[in-house]
Amino acid sequence: MVQQDFTSPIMPQAIISAQQLTQSIQLQQQTLSIFSALNLEIFAGEQVAITGRSGSGKSTLLGILATLDQAVTGQLYVCGEPIHALNEEQRAAVRLKYIGFVFQSFQLLPHLTALENVMLPLRLQPGFHYAKAEQQARALLARVGLERQSAQTPRVLSGGEQQRVAIARALISEPEIIFADEPTGNLDGHTAEEIEQLLFDLNRERGTTLVLVTHDPQLAARCQRHFELRDGQLTEHAETAGV
Ligand SMILES: Nc1ncnc2c1ncn2[C@@H]1O[C@H](COP(=O)(O)OP(=O)(O)OP(=O)(O)O)[C@@H](O)[C@H]1O
Ligand SMILES: [Mg+2]
Repeated sequence: MVQQDFTSPIMPQAIISAQQLTQSIQLQQQTLSIFSALNLEIFAGEQVAITGRSGSGKSTLLGILATLDQAVTGQLYVCGEPIHALNEEQRAAVRLKYIGFVFQSFQLLPHLTALENVMLPLRLQPGFHYAKAEQQARALLARVGLERQSAQTPRVLSGGEQQRVAIARALISEPEIIFADEPTGNLDGHTAEEIEQLLFDLNRERGTTLVLVTHDPQLAARCQRHFELRDGQLTEHAETAGV
């Protein structure tokens, strides 16, 4: 689990704590404000949905919370690490240690097999051990129901199978948090349901915090917490469900 120093007054207890986050993009003629003074606290093990209209800034926010991008101003702590104070290299180290990311478009490497794609994050870690990594990757592929497809490249896998490989890849470094940006946006209803169930099962089995962006109100309602991003502000829906 995450080691946090609760004696320090500046260390937040939330697994994700964002304070006064502002993000804007410099266009040719003007500055486009995406959100400003945004606050958010997420606690370990929670399932959190973020919804909002297309263009409202959901992917931008998720990318910042996942340390892939940086906010213009504000403070962000992820697993106790002060992300706003880190350089790119340090942020990459935080990502490797704590974070798994599932993209809408899967983003698997086409020339690698399913097994190699899943093993990839471990290759970047110090002390990489091939046989051990392979064993872990095979176990995860089995967990997502793809034991027999491990030697296939993404080209011959269905959309749902590719997304399951992507989930296995996000899990291999045993992250504290999984971020998923419309993980079922490109899948048919039945396959989407399977992938959603898988994410919720992993959240329950491993206590992995799940933060997902979705356009699907039913999926959002299945999460314990539901935030809506609108006009650059986050509003939490009062009703909570949980699976
Ligand atoms: N690199 C960029 N350059 C210019 N504008 C950008 C850039 N990235 C994002 N934007 C703009 O920022 C706004 C928020 O984009 P974002 O992708 O976060 O929206 P979203 O809520 O994820 O939308 P969708 O539901 O369609 O995925 C949009 O108006 C988008 O055009
Ligand atoms: Mg988006």
